[in-house]
Amino acid sequence: MKRIAFTAVFAPLALAATAQASSPVAKPDKVVVCAACHGENGVSTQPIYPNLGGQQETYIEHALHAYKSGERKNAIMGAQAATLSDADIKQLAKWFSQQSPVVYTPDLETPEGAKK
Ligand code: HEC
Repeated sequence: MKRIAFTAVFAPLALAATAQASSPVAKPDKVVVCAACHGENGVSTQPIYPNLGGQQETYIEHALHAYKSGERKNAIMGAQAATLSDADIKQLAKWFSQQSPVVYTPDLETPEGAKK
């Protein structure tokens, strides 16, 4: 019952968020590189890679600049971001932000204390 209520409340919000996306962007060529780990539509191929689909455009941009400058340290993403121009970063951020977020159903019953 709790789950039905949750779905009823949040599903329309998810749809509204998708519908609000700004004008669609053409797929940047460099998406093929990112796709190996994050998936072409931002649905990651492995649990160790984050999903990017539906993430905030500004957040993605900020993260890529931080990897590029070394402010955010990660060997894999540092190397990836080093090859990206500012224009690439803008296009990739727009692309992934406009893809559908991964849909999942949180299990509200599992965490200790969640049933209270
Ligand atoms: C070889 C696998 C691999 C490839 C290729 C790759 N990434 Fe990543 N990406 C990762 C991993 C691993 C992380 C998590 C790094 C960390 O812990 O900071 C990550 C993190 C990110 C994040 C931050 C996500 C968050 O939630 O903070 C962004 C944005 C991102 N990648 C964008 C890209 C883009 C754009 C490309 C293509 C140019 C790309 N990645 C290519 C593996 C990859």
